[in-house]
Amino acid sequence: MSDAAKFSLSGKDVEFPVMSGSVGPDVVDIRKLYAQTDAFTYDPGFTSTASCQSKLTYIDGDEGVLLHRGYPIGELAEQSSFMEVAYLLLNGELPGSAELGTFSRTITRHTMVHEQLATFFRGFRRDAHPMAIMCGVVGALSAFYHDSTDIRDPEQRIIASHRLIAKMPTLAAMAYKYSVGQPFLYPDNSLSYTGNFLRMTFGVPAEPYEVNPAVEKAMDRIFILHADHEQNASTSTVRLAGSSGANPFACIAAGIACLWGPAHGGANEAALNMLREIGTPERIPEFIARAKDKNDPFRLMGFGHRVYKNYDPRATVMQKTVREVFDALKVNDPLFETALRLEELALNDDYFVEKKLFPNVDFYSGVILSAIGFPTSMFTVLFAIARTVGWVAQWNEMITDPDQKIGRPRQLYTGPTQRTYLPVEQR
Ligand code: ACO
Repeated sequence: MSDAAKFSLSGKDVEFPVMSGSVGPDVVDIRKLYAQTDAFTYDPGFTSTASCQSKLTYIDGDEGVLLHRGYPIGELAEQSSFMEVAYLLLNGELPGSAELGTFSRTITRHTMVHEQLATFFRGFRRDAHPMAIMCGVVGALSAFYHDSTDIRDPEQRIIASHRLIAKMPTLAAMAYKYSVGQPFLYPDNSLSYTGNFLRMTFGVPAEPYEVNPAVEKAMDRIFILHADHEQNASTSTVRLAGSSGANPFACIAAGIACLWGPAHGGANEAALNMLREIGTPERIPEFIARAKDKNDPFRLMGFGHRVYKNYDPRATVMQKTVREVFDALKVNDPLFETALRLEELALNDDYFVEKKLFPNVDFYSGVILSAIGFPTSMFTVLFAIARTVGWVAQWNEMITDPDQKIGRPRQLYTGPTQRTYLPVEQR
């Protein structure tokens, strides 16, 4: 801890401790503010509030830096695998090869889901959004795995975490298969985490499926890029749900619900839809003008970020991955050219420069995912698969944090003051 913060309210002077992390802004510890001053703080959207201490992920939004347990995202995306990043986030250190082998085998052995879950899927309409299905089926895991819902037992917490990471791709592939009317495919334990997911999604029982190594690598990298992102809306939702003691499957279902929103995980779907609507580069100025118009609710999707006021480091990797996937699949989607041109024009436009609006991770991911063959409705589901790693790691960290309490924000009440009830005939 460093200096104290001095604060004066209604003639009363109080001091609050200032806490320093290993890197990043200090925080003023205001836990005693209400007791000492009878006042709350007001911070809708938590723009100046640290809700917890965490050792997992560090973001410097001004510099465009993202570190997981100290490792830069660019290095992880280039050199590691999603399983390695999952291990790192859960355990704090990169695994040795034996540890990685054991971890990957453990995850692989949990990839099957209870057979009865297949019947659960059949209750949904065929045109249900896969995120609607995911909210339901992931929450339903609580009803299938009673032996890993006691959050006070560290062993059960680990099993639940492994189950969630392992079963998400299976459930996601099932949601996809259900929407296109094809049979579900069981996992194949001879494949990698990502290869297995691609096969369960795009394979059919009638013929062998060969995993394209370039697509597998690109998909694995996309999972790495989405694995964790500090205290974002869905992670905070998972922590808040978990703070009441709710079981991990229910907490992750809450995170999925939050992720679905277009301002969060739904943005890559919205970004690709926007690129399709723009169509050709000639129409870009019209859309930039709309994004700048105060009277038009339109925003450039895939642009801007609450934390990054610089280029999102994940967008850099994503842009490079687009080219790799296009080369591997021998495709060339003209929307990529539109995206590149839109980025160039926006980055040279005063409005976007002044407001520090840069492409975020979602700007290019839609173009890649679409080239791989995913319908837009699956984009947020893919995000949810990857983010499950961050969610469970953050949830585990929260459960073991001695400062952890049930999350219970207060409010600035602006409604009527106390009044007397009048029976209906007297109103
Ligand atoms: N297009 C046009 N203007 C924008 C955009 C955009 N994409 N994003 C922000 N602005 C403008 C706002 O109109 C606002 O202008 P004002 O100060 O004149 O009122 C200013 O920039 C600040 O925007 P806020 O919404 O206050 O910033 P906030 O931090 O709350 O929002 C957010 C961040 C939600 C990501 C926003 O930039 C946005 O809506 N972007 C588009 C959606 C998107 O891409 N979301 C993905 C986020 S990344 C992720 O979840 C993985």
